[in-house]
Amino acid sequence: MVLPNQEEALLNTTRKHQWNRRRFISLGVLFFGLALPITGLGDHVARHSPDSSGPHAGIGWVIAHVAIGTPFVVFGAWHALLKGRALLKYLRSRVRRPALPSLEALAALALVGGVLALTVGR
Ligand code: HEM
Repeated sequence: MVLPNQEEALLNTTRKHQWNRRRFISLGVLFFGLALPITGLGDHVARHSPDSSGPHAGIGWVIAHVAIGTPFVVFGAWHALLKGRALLKYLRSRVRRPALPSLEALAALALVGGVLALTVGR
């Protein structure tokens, strides 16, 4: 039989949390990545709104955007490094058994290419 005190002690030991670096980095990439479009949009609105105030308009948004973008790139690279072995294994298997990209990948790529062709340089 487990006494109430023992039960509490058991709960405390099972609740003890082990820091998981991989999880921290993966979630860092996710949350920095989610904050990027928000700060980018803030920058865009502050700079281009009709009542924006001079060359330093929205500077806070620019700083926030770059301060979020830089760790996003660093965390992203770190994430890729930590998954290096799995990534290498996958790349080697693709070299050994080359295959055409899937139809879905080609369709998504064509969409991006189409949007770029219709927008850049206009
Ligand atoms: C999901 C990723 C990202 C999105 C959606 C995004 C979005 C934007 C938007 C909407 C603007 C404003 C453009 C304008 O109106 O002038 C902007 C500007 C900018 N972004 Fe990003 N961005 C992203 C990633 C990054 C990253 C990773 C960096 C580098 C750390 C970065 C650096 C900048 C810089 C330097 C500017 C120009 C700031 C200025 O002079 O106004 N962005 N971004």
